[in-house]
Amino acid sequence: NVPIDVDLSTLAVGQQVAVVWRSNPIFITRRSPQALEKLKTPELRARLRDPDSKALQQPPYATNWHRSLSPEYGVLVGVCTHLGCVPAYASGATDPMRRGYACPCHGSKFDLAGRVFTGVPAPYNLPVPPHRMLSPNHLRIG
Ligand code: FES
Repeated sequence: NVPIDVDLSTLAVGQQVAVVWRSNPIFITRRSPQALEKLKTPELRARLRDPDSKALQQPPYATNWHRSLSPEYGVLVGVCTHLGCVPAYASGATDPMRRGYACPCHGSKFDLAGRVFTGVPAPYNLPVPPHRMLSPNHLRIG
């Protein structure tokens, strides 16, 4: 249960860094303003199983449209809610609509806030671990 601190100062916009907390991969992404805007669009929301995160896969302070404390930083447990494979980050460099996560095992897809798309095996959004910002560039997980 030891928390870990992550220095975000070298994380570029659009990039992800993965750390390990409680033996689980934790994905931290720095999201661009455009990527954040997309999380709110009706087109995307219509394709999500639980766009408002009603299934409580996150702490109360992350039950919001960006599913995190600071909109700029996404913080997710990188364990697929189907059978536990580790989803791969898709930066969307060639197609912004595909920005998010894809599970290599049975094809589940998640958006940049870890929200699961419809029509895939994973039943729930990716969990959000407890986290807080120690300063604008320092994140504590746990
Ligand atoms: Fe991810 Fe099955 S474990 S889709």
